[in-house]
Amino acid sequence: MDAIYPTSNLFLSASLIISFFILPTAEAAAAPSSQLSSGQPLVDGATLISSDGIFELGFFSPGSSTNRYVGIWYHSFSAAAVLWVANRDSPLLDTLGSLSIASDGNLVILDGHKAVVWSSKVASLPSNETMVELLDTGNLVLNNSDATFWQSFDNPGDTYLPGMKVGLDLVTNVNQVFTSWRSNDDPAPGNFTLGIAPDQSTQFFIWEGDKPRWRSGRWNGQVFIGIQNMVTTYIDGFKLSDFQREKKLYFYYTHSNISHRYILMPDGVDRHLIWANNTNNWQQLWAQPNTQCEIYNRCGNNATCTDSTDGKSPSCSCLKGFESDNYGKAIGRCLRRTPLQCETNNGSAAGNSDGFYLIKGMKLPDLSYWDLDPTNDAQCKEACMKNCSCKAYSYQAGIGCLTWGRELVDIHMFSSGGNDFYLRLAGSEFDDSNKGLKGYVIAILVAFTAVMLIGGSVLVWKHKSRMEVFYRRRMNRQESSVEPSRSAEVESSGALSTVMDMKEQGKDGHDVPRFSFQAVENATANFSALNLLGEGGFGPVYKGTLPGGQDIAVKRLSRNSGQGMEEFKNEVILIAKLQHRNLVRLLGYCIKRDDKMLIYEYMANRSLDVLLFADARRKLQLDWKTRYNIIEGIARALLYLHRDSRLRIIHRDLKVSNILLDENMNPKISDFGMARIFGNDGNETNTKRVVGTYGYMSPEFAMQGLFSVKSDVYSFGVLLIEIVSGMRNSTYYNSELSNNLLGCAWKLWNENNVMELVDSSIRSSCSIKEISRCINVGLLCIQDRANDRPTMSSVIMMLESDNYVYPTPTRPRFAAEIIPSENDSLIFNRKTVTRNPSITILTGR
Ligand SMILES: *[C@@H]1O[C@H](CO)[C@@H](O)[C@H](O)[C@H]1NC(C)=O
Ligand SMILES: *[C@@H]1O[C@H](CO)[C@@H](O)[C@H](O)[C@H]1NC(C)=O
Ligand SMILES: *[C@@H]1O[C@H](CO)[C@@H](O)[C@H](O)[C@H]1NC(C)=O
Ligand SMILES: *[C@@H]1O[C@H](CO)[C@@H](O)[C@H](O)[C@H]1NC(C)=O
Ligand SMILES: *[C@@H]1O[C@H](CO)[C@@H](O)[C@H](O)[C@H]1NC(C)=O
Ligand SMILES: *[C@@H]1O[C@H](CO)[C@@H](O)[C@H](O)[C@H]1NC(C)=O
Ligand SMILES: *[C@@H]1O[C@H](CO)[C@@H](O)[C@H](O)[C@H]1NC(C)=O
Ligand SMILES: *[C@@H]1O[C@H](CO)[C@@H](O)[C@H](O)[C@H]1NC(C)=O
Repeated sequence: MDAIYPTSNLFLSASLIISFFILPTAEAAAAPSSQLSSGQPLVDGATLISSDGIFELGFFSPGSSTNRYVGIWYHSFSAAAVLWVANRDSPLLDTLGSLSIASDGNLVILDGHKAVVWSSKVASLPSNETMVELLDTGNLVLNNSDATFWQSFDNPGDTYLPGMKVGLDLVTNVNQVFTSWRSNDDPAPGNFTLGIAPDQSTQFFIWEGDKPRWRSGRWNGQVFIGIQNMVTTYIDGFKLSDFQREKKLYFYYTHSNISHRYILMPDGVDRHLIWANNTNNWQQLWAQPNTQCEIYNRCGNNATCTDSTDGKSPSCSCLKGFESDNYGKAIGRCLRRTPLQCETNNGSAAGNSDGFYLIKGMKLPDLSYWDLDPTNDAQCKEACMKNCSCKAYSYQAGIGCLTWGRELVDIHMFSSGGNDFYLRLAGSEFDDSNKGLKGYVIAILVAFTAVMLIGGSVLVWKHKSRMEVFYRRRMNRQESSVEPSRSAEVESSGALSTVMDMKEQGKDGHDVPRFSFQAVENATANFSALNLLGEGGFGPVYKGTLPGGQDIAVKRLSRNSGQGMEEFKNEVILIAKLQHRNLVRLLGYCIKRDDKMLIYEYMANRSLDVLLFADARRKLQLDWKTRYNIIEGIARALLYLHRDSRLRIIHRDLKVSNILLDENMNPKISDFGMARIFGNDGNETNTKRVVGTYGYMSPEFAMQGLFSVKSDVYSFGVLLIEIVSGMRNSTYYNSELSNNLLGCAWKLWNENNVMELVDSSIRSSCSIKEISRCINVGLLCIQDRANDRPTMSSVIMMLESDNYVYPTPTRPRFAAEIIPSENDSLIFNRKTVTRNPSITILTGR
């Protein structure tokens, strides 16, 4: 593994785990049992194996130690890992020990002199007829026919296994925690513990002694909002117990259960490991804390922490409206510059009362209160404003109204994602921004008045009806966000379009042709299946021929675009104005009731995937020169969409099948602006509906539904590597290299061995210099952090300049590990994940 990830210190190598302990020589009994009953002690060297063959219990020595411990590990995985240890701080010094059921019914470990070194210590067992069994979950239970008296899952060590219910007992107030080992050689309880916050704030903590060291942030029903890299995989994973009923607060993990485990390492880092059959090893999906700013309150109270790109020293700064009382030293205490108006009892004096300052992209501070009453952002704000000890608020979907009345601690500025935080500041702190704002407001007012006057009553009427539609749609959305239901969405858009159809009678007067339904029907022979070119994410595409002989492609949009007719038309008109030689030209549109169609120019060579992933003969059409030309064309078109067009379009679904080729093999991007058509405003960063294709989704997109031009850059990087290698990202699987396409590209590039990656059909025609340049750029584009990725303009510069000094890409952890093999795509392979923002992942390609 070290060969694959030479610069990574995060990756947990197998050897590390294996070297934890030496397995006993397996000379044990013929038929392994999962049970132990009294009078049949288990001696050192023999083991119990759970009946499904996954878990094993026996004696072992960790790492370089020769002490003997009783523990549970995986029997089924070759690279073993100890999951639980009985006698953590009372080791046996020789191999003469045994595990047995004592006469009082307890499970005990005896040394060579039959002295008890460890016991399950259940007081007053009702009978001596107890037995011990290692269950298929990895749980060791002591029971009799009536009841279970003791189980290893209730006595956790450093490892969480699916099925455990480790947490906070709301009746007894006992908080069960995981405890790290002291070192890899010593399973005795170490310095770190991990568990649920005792204040019931639904957060996880890692403590060092009794000091917090890391915090997950609150649970919002789907993810922990304070974990920057919390991805969709975890949506299926964690669940919060029904603690009102069970009287116990804990999280449990349901997803593909046996191959996952979480371990709190001796260095205080919690790692999520998954067994990867293809490497026969454990791979790390996740580790916390992982950066400096993830260390609890790294920058102190009232200050924000921003990680530097080198991962070393973070930068700390006081919150807006706070300043350091100690300019000489690095950072002193951050104190409020202007007292709050409500505190000075001076509110009546001036007009500038306290206000709230919005900070975006934050890990919300610790020590929040959960205020149950407010049910929306405005009420939450009002509640906070009324109460002078409320210093800040944040309304979180899935949680509710959070307010801060104590110190503001542990504030991490995320490099992507994060939450909105409203900080209360004295009115005077807003002064400078107010002036600018006022200017804007006046300008807008003047412009608006002018429009109203000039436009006259027709425009007023039109505007009004549009606003009505807008509000109605918003209300529909709000309703459906309470009770997310696809049919509700379809219904509402259907109802709206009837409304709009009635107003549609009037003339259009636009230069984008509106085709009649009849004309489209005729051109496509009544949408004949023979003319079906393919089924894209947004609906089927048909080939058609106009009466004049011109070929067209008709995209019939699936109905649930959630958009009314008027908006659809407006979007089409905007998008038709985008003109670039590497964008497919939109010829017109067609609307009939809630049937919406887009009419494009027809591309003779169809889409790139048809040739790129085809047999060797057809691939010959794509020699290296053609591929390079395609790469450059896509890059230019993206730059146009991102920067030069008036709309600043983020494509959001860039993939090989969306690259069409004309008769001269010039690439043209299709489906741009679809996010707008499907009810998104192109400038928003966090949208209600996310559309994307598995394999091309950037981490921040998959995790938080966050978009920026950098999400397109990510997809471009994937595309680039696919074009060079001639292989699909999601299906490439190489058992020898043991990785997916992106991970493999990274590895080969680091080994100066990029030709290995290159499609065999172009190896003779390509220039190694151009190839390495392309792969270098591709790897820069697929970096995990959006900020680290280049913009499209630097991409073009890098692709076209000979003397560019290329930055070194960081290893794409997301790409390489979240998607270790095709099987894992099942995680994403679903039509709709209901969450906020809701994601629609389209897998067809
Ligand atoms: C349980 O205890 C009874 C009486 O104390 C004894 O006769 C019996 O042998 C014990 N059973 C086992 C399995 O130890
Ligand atoms: C303990 O529980 C297991 C499974 O629940 C059961 O098979 C076994 O019979 C129980 N032990 C005794 C002594 O009844
Ligand atoms: C493990 O998964 C299986 C099905 O995939 C499920 O029946 C079982 O309850 C799960 N076990 C735990 C402990 O979550
Ligand atoms: C644990 O704490 C002790 C005492 O504070 C310290 O000496 C030791 O280095 C710590 N171990 C780790 C792994 O941090
Ligand atoms: C990995 O191997 C385990 C044990 O052999 C098996 O249960 C599991 O289905 C395999 N998983 C995959 C993804 O092949
Ligand atoms: C944070 O700011 C508040 C308001 O000025 C102040 O009372 C508090 O002492 C500050 N905390 C620290 C640790 O400096
Ligand atoms: C009230 O405000 C005035 C000016 O705004 C200031 O000079 C005075 O100190 C304030 N009074 C108190 C009690 O803070
Ligand atoms: C005011 O806010 C503080 C902290 O947020 C809270 O403890 C207190 O109960 C609130 N008071 C009222 C009257 O709501």
